[in-house]
Amino acid sequence: MSASAHEMKSYYAGRAAYYDDVYNKPERQADIAFLREFLPERLAGRHVLEVACGTGYWSQHIAAQAASYLATDGVAEPLEFAKQRPHVDPQRCMIADVYALPASLGSFDGAFAGLWFSHVAAECTSRDD
Ligand SMILES: C[S@@+](CC[C@H](N)C(=O)[O-])C[C@H]1O[C@@H](n2cnc3c(N)ncnc32)[C@H](O)[C@@H]1O
Repeated sequence: MSASAHEMKSYYAGRAAYYDDVYNKPERQADIAFLREFLPERLAGRHVLEVACGTGYWSQHIAAQAASYLATDGVAEPLEFAKQRPHVDPQRCMIADVYALPASLGSFDGAFAGLWFSHVAAECTSRDD
């Protein structure tokens, strides 16, 4: 594992118990309330794969309306919180690296990744054309 991957995992492992504080900030409540309605509606009835699910804040809302839901994250500690969420099947919470998802996860017709782009390396987002 690279030093930066190790650092990232330690960071989210350490924050898992209080990560959800980001969803309690007063200035974010209107946007969060909108997304709590919007995201489940968009993925309703679909077989959804979520990558980098963290503590499962969005998983609980989207899974409530999905046909099936698989929540994945690269770090065990936040995933343990995701397993406790309503509508989330703990048997359908798995450790998986976004960049090495095994085919054995299955097939899906919906996907979700929340607050993920900050983890995408710049060279993956630039285009030459
Ligand atoms: C900013 S948090 C977002 C968590 C959640 N999606 C949310 O919206 O609350 C980023 C998450 O990405 C996960 N993560 C970072 N790099 C990853 C990778 N390569 N594979 C899987 N998960 C990764 C971290 O463990 C962390 O839970």
